[in-house]
Amino acid sequence: MKKMDESELKRQVIENGNIPRHVAIIMDGNGRWAQKRGRPRVFGHQQGMKSVRAVVEACRELGCEVLTLYAFSEENWSRPLTEIKALMRLLQNYIEKEKQNLRSNGIRVGCIGRLEKLSDAPRNAITDAVRFTADQKQMLLNLAVSYGSRAEIVDAVRRLAGEVAAGRLAPAEINETTLAGALYTADLPDPDLLIRTSGEMRLSNFLLWQVAYTEIYITDVLWPDFRKQNLFEAVAAFQKRERRFGKVEKSGRNNRKPKDKP
Ligand code: FPP
Repeated sequence: MKKMDESELKRQVIENGNIPRHVAIIMDGNGRWAQKRGRPRVFGHQQGMKSVRAVVEACRELGCEVLTLYAFSEENWSRPLTEIKALMRLLQNYIEKEKQNLRSNGIRVGCIGRLEKLSDAPRNAITDAVRFTADQKQMLLNLAVSYGSRAEIVDAVRRLAGEVAAGRLAPAEINETTLAGALYTADLPDPDLLIRTSGEMRLSNFLLWQVAYTEIYITDVLWPDFRKQNLFEAVAAFQKRERRFGKVEKSGRNNRKPKDKP
């Protein structure tokens, strides 16, 4: 079957009307992409930045509210120091170079993870971009940096336990809402669509609580090859899914008829 061209696919996805509010992406396969070309892993990460720019643009064009990118996991701290430094430098360069452009496009930068573990330069670049774009309302670019979902849940439980110990919260008042409200993602809708590149069938400690009812889309495309077309294909696949949220009858955002209002 002939592949639909990018602008036609985008037109159809927008026409359908079921745009995921929150897209989350596990950007995987940079190392393999580089290895296939006989180049160092860092080369794959550098090329992956083109894909980052492409998905930010694509999500903005579709009107997604939140794009969360898994930029650096808690587990990534155990990679060789040279690779960690290269990843941090890429993150910092991206933020410094793009913050004006992001702001001009109505994009606010946010960050989830244990940012305090970063060295000064990348941490300051991120906090500066968060401040610089704070009043933008079209889309949130949420960077998961030094992020681990289990650590996030532990942090949340510790916070709630502190509230209980201080007598401000009764154990019986702890429920799914209070726990969700203590996560780094407290103010965000749960992801509607989770994309993972390079064919791996794992969640890798990413947003474990938040993806309870998220549609998962896995593609064999390696991250440095992922472009707008691939993002639109993922959203088109999402639009064909029937989301039941554990119920029998059809319900939920994804089962609205095209063009229906929420
Ligand atoms: C996985 O590929 C990718 C990463 C660990 C890092 C992704 C980070 C970037 C593209 C740069 C920073 C991002 C932003 C948002 C500015 P891998 O190395 O695990 O690949 P492999 O599985 O093929 O070895």
